[in-house]
Amino acid sequence: MGFRDKFKNADHALTFNDVLLLPGWTTIEPSEADVRSRVTRSVELDVPFVSSPMDTVTESEMAIALARHGGLGVLHRNCTVKEEVEMARMVKRAEALIIRDVVTVRPDATIDDLLGLMETKNIHGFPVVDGDGGIVGIVTWRDFRLADRTLKVEDVMTKDVITSGENTTLEEAKAILHEHRIEKLPIVDDANKVRGLITMKDITLKGTYPHAIRDELGRLICAAAISPFDIERAVALDEYVDILVTDVAHFHNKNCFDAVKKVLDKVDAEVIVGNIGTYEAAEDCLTKLEGVAGLRVGIGSGSICSTSVVTRAGSPTLYATTQVADAVNDYGSDATIISDGGIRNPGDIAVALAVGADCAMMGNVFAGTSESPGRLVALEGRYYKEYYGMGSAAARQKRFAQDRYSQPSKTISEGVEGWVPYRGGVTDIVSEFVGGLKAAMGYVGAKTIPEMAEKAKLALVTERGVQEINPHDILLPGPNRKT
Ligand code: XMP
Repeated sequence: MGFRDKFKNADHALTFNDVLLLPGWTTIEPSEADVRSRVTRSVELDVPFVSSPMDTVTESEMAIALARHGGLGVLHRNCTVKEEVEMARMVKRAEALIIRDVVTVRPDATIDDLLGLMETKNIHGFPVVDGDGGIVGIVTWRDFRLADRTLKVEDVMTKDVITSGENTTLEEAKAILHEHRIEKLPIVDDANKVRGLITMKDITLKGTYPHAIRDELGRLICAAAISPFDIERAVALDEYVDILVTDVAHFHNKNCFDAVKKVLDKVDAEVIVGNIGTYEAAEDCLTKLEGVAGLRVGIGSGSICSTSVVTRAGSPTLYATTQVADAVNDYGSDATIISDGGIRNPGDIAVALAVGADCAMMGNVFAGTSESPGRLVALEGRYYKEYYGMGSAAARQKRFAQDRYSQPSKTISEGVEGWVPYRGGVTDIVSEFVGGLKAAMGYVGAKTIPEMAEKAKLALVTERGVQEINPHDILLPGPNRKT
């Protein structure tokens, strides 16, 4: 083959900006569209939105907020194993029908100890147990908040603690909590040992967030990022999370495949692998890695990516999704497709779903919310939140995510650092994106997300067309003023 032939059947690596959804015959109104989807074989989402595992995007607060709204946050891995496990633990403890890993204290602990525990574990009430583990009381924030720090737990605890047996139903627990006007009900076995805790807060939260995605114990679904090479992290997280997501820029790599096989052998959590961007990569994941639950797709499209600038390598998210979706269909696989990178608005998600994605992963969009860990800064009278790529110098300083990129690039950044406009709470973003997505589904005439893939037709837009599609010939207010 001559070098000139390299372009002969070359694909156009299309991006979201290059296409439009064609309006189709519709029998539904946008409000009737159903945006439920899945993120892995077994985890269903109420909204098809996932936040990126980046240290300016997803820590426990984001993961809790998104899961409560029916989406999913993937905890970042740019921290110690202990820190990531602690984030996962907080997500799992945020809600539960019954808390199983109950933190208990001894009667001779001091109030100072309690305050420390409260701070590190974010818990406000503790069953008190004796040396044999039998319950002897309960101590809550109300009992010790004004107490002298040197006092002992036994001096302030409630001794005639109300408990209930292991077969207590939620309705019975509710009645007991109400009858005794208490907030926490320890569940004990025949030997009076604490086996669980039911709280009024959890019962109330269940009603407050009816769209939340929960496991069979009523806890929020939790996902966390790992390096395929960090078995220790994967095993430690496995105790708390439902989903592990590999977090490398180019997963179609022998070393990554060999490493992730060991992870798949060791963990119970479902494993999403990526990022990948070609048919061949998807084919290899589906045929060589048994048990993969999902594929994270797109290379170089992220708003903070400089991979394709530095290396001229990449597979834009839209193009990558079409490639991977073809492989998934050809192999009759039920692995999911998570389109990741470059998504700015609900229309981009609609396009991703139209070419076979199950859901969309976003960094930039969620980085601007109150729940992201990035710093809030004021610039020229407006609020922004810090946002940087995991391959940027800022992220790499922490060193934990350095193996996201291949060896030689350790000396060169593949991401940039900056600020994104502050956009309010996750609640607002989710409802704005659901509204936009439903409107797009209305134009296509798709009632469900699988119908988007079946029915949606796409057209290409020229470079000049992009100008016409965006607001034009008008003076716009704000910092991005243009005519
Ligand atoms: P958005 O467009 O939502 O993209 O901000 C987020 C996704 O970008 C990827 N990511 C990076 N890619 N260099 C890259 O080439 C980086 O430094 C970097 N950091 C994150 C990642 O897939 C994320 O979900």
